Formats: sequence, C-alpha cells, structure tokens
Amino acid sequence: MKTQDIAPTLEKIYPEAGDFLPLNGTDYVEFYVGNAKQAAHYYKTAFGFQNLAYSGLETGNKDAASYVLQQDKIRLVLTTPLHSGNPINQHIVKHGDGVKVIALWVDDATKSFEETTKRGAKPFMEPTKEEDENGYVIRSGIYTYGETVHMFVERKNYNGLFLPGYQEWKSDYNPKAAGLKYIDHMVGNVGWNEMNVWVDWYEKTMGFINLLTFDDKQIHTEYSALMSKVMSNGNGRIKFPINEPAEGKKKSQIEEYIQFYEGSGCQHIAVATDDILTTVRDLRSRGVEFLSAPPNAYYEDVRVRVPNVKEDMDLLAAEGILIDCDEDGYLLQIFTKPVEDRPTLFFEIIQRMGAKGFGAGNFKALFESIEREQAKRGTL
Ligand code: FE2
Repeated sequence: MKTQDIAPTLEKIYPEAGDFLPLNGTDYVEFYVGNAKQAAHYYKTAFGFQNLAYSGLETGNKDAASYVLQQDKIRLVLTTPLHSGNPINQHIVKHGDGVKVIALWVDDATKSFEETTKRGAKPFMEPTKEEDENGYVIRSGIYTYGETVHMFVERKNYNGLFLPGYQEWKSDYNPKAAGLKYIDHMVGNVGWNEMNVWVDWYEKTMGFINLLTFDDKQIHTEYSALMSKVMSNGNGRIKFPINEPAEGKKKSQIEEYIQFYEGSGCQHIAVATDDILTTVRDLRSRGVEFLSAPPNAYYEDVRVRVPNVKEDMDLLAAEGILIDCDEDGYLLQIFTKPVEDRPTLFFEIIQRMGAKGFGAGNFKALFESIEREQAKRGTL
C-alpha cells in the first residue's frame, strides 16, 4: 500500500523513551497558505514535488482547497481557505504562510489521543473516523508549541491515495523530482525561557527523550546566540529540535522568527537526499535560494576537522555545502533562505554519511550566514 510507505529515517532505539505513544514515522506536513494553487506550483517547480491528491470545490469541499504533494516518502499538504469566515484565515493573517500540522503515523489514533491528553496535551481534534470507498482513517490531534498541531493518523484500514475526501490530482505539468527522500527532522522555535517548557512537554506528554543539548556557549557568533535541545521518540524516527533565543550583542535569528511569525512555530524542515551535490545544483537551477557560502577559511578548517569526506571538497565549497562529523560518520547540509517574505520557515537539505548529529560544528558558520541576511533585512 502506497500510503503506508513512510519515513524510515534514522533507526536508533532509545529504550528510556516512553512506550505509550508508538510512532511509525512522519505522515504528512500541512501548511496553511494564502494561495495553495500557487504554492503547489512553487513546490513542484522549485523542489520537485509530484502531484498526489486534491480536495476543493470540485470534490465537494466548500471551505478550503488542499493540494497534496509527494516526493519519495515526504508528503506536503498545502491548504487555503475559500471564504473570509474560515478560521484558517486567522492563522494566515497572524503567522503568514507556515506549518500548521506535523502529522504522525500511528497504529491507534484513539489511544494516541487518550495517552497524550491525559498527560496534559491540549486537544485539537477528538478522534474522528473519515470514510470513503477505499476504507477509513481515524485521525486525532493535539496542540504543541504556538498554534502548531500534531495530528495522529491511523490508516491501517485505508487503501486510498491520501485521506477520505481527497481525489487523485492530475496535471499535465509534472517537473521531475529533485532527489528528496524523507523528512529527517523538523525544528521548532519557541520564545524566551520556553525551550525547557517544551522539552518537558515532549518528555511528559509524548514520551520523547532529550537526545542532545546545545547551550548558548556552543551556539553563538560574535553577535547572537541561541539554545537548542533535540527531542526524539523511542524508535528514533521522529526528531524535533527545539530552539529558543539567547542574549547576544544583537538580535538572535530565533527572536527575528518569533517576531515575524508572531509566536512559536516550525522553523525548518530538514529533508534528506542521497546525493546532495546533484540535489542542490538541481534545486538552484529551479530557483531555490540558499544561504551564502561560508568563507574559504571554513573549508580549510573542514579539511582538517572532517577527514575522509568522499565527495570532492572543491565541489562542496562551490555550492556552499556545510560539512560536519560525529563519532558515527559525517554529514553534508545546506539551508535555503526563508521560503516566504516573512523571515520564517526555511528548508535544510541533508545527506547523512553515518553521522547522527545535526551539524553542531556548522552552527557558527550557518548563523553568520543568517546574520548577513538579517543585516540586509535590518533585523539584526
Ligand atoms: Fe536542522
């Protein structure tokens, strides 16, 4: 069944995590956007996503239009309201285009809802059965940071393309895929002194563990700083780093995000590729804008810091791809500029060559690059 073939990501078992909320992987990510038709065109053209399913006026949905796009194991849903009275508008007015739902694939959406809400999670949607000729899906949802939601999707009795209510979306315009394979991690930005609140929340209500911690002494530049803790579920398939701003001489990029998103929300979606050089060249040619490359000194340092990189270092440097390592191997990563006019959500492209970390060795180079953009925006 197509729809059950979802993210494998990094399999590592963390037995100390709670086992009351087994998660099979990321099911889909839903964005609330001002114009889903145009956003869908952008994600197809720029990032190589493929048509999957559609819901809107033509399918009997009078409230909203949703386009479902797929690339390998990644599914994005782009939703726009069709009338001013739709509450989705309030979300868009406040936050701009952004991630509303991080949906998680589970075997039992009713139990997932009960186990999390009894531990204090705020309900978003009671367990709800949705049905069509292909079977049924049960979905439930809880709020996480800000107005962001985790939906639990139980689809073991469903054989359709996506969800009941959606039809196949066909188009004569089908740009080729860009080698994006699965969602590696999704990062949340939260306000001052809130990181530990959400770390505790993921531990208590979802049974996650705190895998890694970076304090402001590790993550800082001359001007700004942030703190980050990486949360993981028990089977290691779901990883949610949580960032908060820290005091610096100038404004932290996290503060800039919170200011423009008008609250906590999803900062970036990291998507994996097996061949970052090909993927990045392809994305660039399709119009995806990446943060500027670090200075040459970065690559001189990397040749010493990360030996045994198989890829040609000159080619990596030419694309501005960042390199880091841990005891298990190395990783290659690069970050896009924000994909909206508000400096909020962006994407990370990552190729893991054994490494299980998040590129801590690159934080300084990355943040200096972000600060160059902030300076242009007058928000540093
Ligand atoms: Fe990341």
